[in-house]
Amino acid sequence: MTLDPHIIEWLNLLTRWIHMIVGVAWIGASFYFNWIEGHLNRVGEKPPGVAGDIWSVHGGGFYHAQKYEVAPEKMPETLHWFKWEAYSTWLSGMVLLVIVYYLNADVYMVDPNVADISPVTAIVIGLATLVIGWVVYDRLCKSKLADNPKMLGLVGYLLVVLVAFALSQVLGGRAAYIHVGAMLGTIMVANVAMVIMPGQRRLVAALIAGETPNANDGKQALIRSRQNNYITLPVLFLMISNHYPSTFGHQYSWLIIAALIPIGVGVRHYYNLKHKGNHASWMLVAAGIAFAVVAWFAAPAKLVAPAGGASAAQAMAMVETHCATCHSAAPTDKVFSAAPNGVMFDTLEDVQRHAASIKARAVDTMSMPLGNTTGMTKEERAILGVWITEGAKAN
Ligand code: HEC
Repeated sequence: MTLDPHIIEWLNLLTRWIHMIVGVAWIGASFYFNWIEGHLNRVGEKPPGVAGDIWSVHGGGFYHAQKYEVAPEKMPETLHWFKWEAYSTWLSGMVLLVIVYYLNADVYMVDPNVADISPVTAIVIGLATLVIGWVVYDRLCKSKLADNPKMLGLVGYLLVVLVAFALSQVLGGRAAYIHVGAMLGTIMVANVAMVIMPGQRRLVAALIAGETPNANDGKQALIRSRQNNYITLPVLFLMISNHYPSTFGHQYSWLIIAALIPIGVGVRHYYNLKHKGNHASWMLVAAGIAFAVVAWFAAPAKLVAPAGGASAAQAMAMVETHCATCHSAAPTDKVFSAAPNGVMFDTLEDVQRHAASIKARAVDTMSMPLGNTTGMTKEERAILGVWITEGAKAN
């Protein structure tokens, strides 16, 4: 499909802006309720049916919230629901997935160095991941495994790593990462739409009918809500991962996902414990150390100097062939009519100025040229890399 790149860019901006706003609203509300749940004061005299209460001050006013064991005796006049934040995050995310990845699947989804598949195949793999991911997760949650939440978490984690590995064998690095993130995000939203909301609707219906609500509905909703809470930080990393080529562009990109997920989950767990008054600070320290180890692991390999060294003329010729088709004041690429992110490599000075990021993208991570549309070889990358490490000199 060909749409004016300028229109695409502004659709992209609008959708991303919305996606961020509703995402912040969703996760903000989710963190807030999780915080309340953890801080509930459950001791002392409480009104009938109340499990705990909490006082807080914000914006110059005092708030007093209480949580019921199951539900209040009669339906309150106005009851606020939290669902559109989640739904609109998913919907805007899907639109963004189409705008950024599927409309230009040949460059954003397919990497011929990884697997020579057609753009349509890549899109089908991406979408199938989202659907199958939810179905498998939901089955696991309804199986016997769910009686042991830690075991469920571990199996879920191993499956996510397996998906990351499998996707990294068929899709370009960026696309593989965003689809692991989109799969987890889909699971979170589906938890809201398919389990939490229906359970709450049944609670409310029972209340209106004057029947005793089924406590299991509330319990199941809380379990899924907890799991969403732990999935949140890994998802947020995956959503911003395309800014970090040393993650998705790494030879073992899936291992980096495997390492960063427990770090995110660990940090979340630290806060969940802290809300309950248990300050397990060692968890933050451990997460920090683990993060540093992953950064070390992701560091680029040492370059082997090509025989005969590397000259500025060689480097410029390479940049002209492999980069300036897009990164130029006048791109010749069929998809990019303006220099991506405004980054241009038309002159030697341009290239020298951007030397570090050129090395990061074209040499260390091979995440450029996008989709390796120009077929840049490893040898070419090595020459470019050596020229840059030797100071990107004019001759
Ligand atoms: C098919 C078009 C295309 C080609 C060819 C291409 N790039 Fe890119 N490049 C992009 C797009 C699109 C982005 C923005 C998305 C991203 O960061 O992945 C980008 C981003 C970058 C960035 C990050 C810019 C920033 O500061 O945000 C660098 C650096 C870069 N490219 C270097 C290169 C190098 C070096 C080459 C050649 C070896 C190259 N690119 C070839 C399309 C291309």
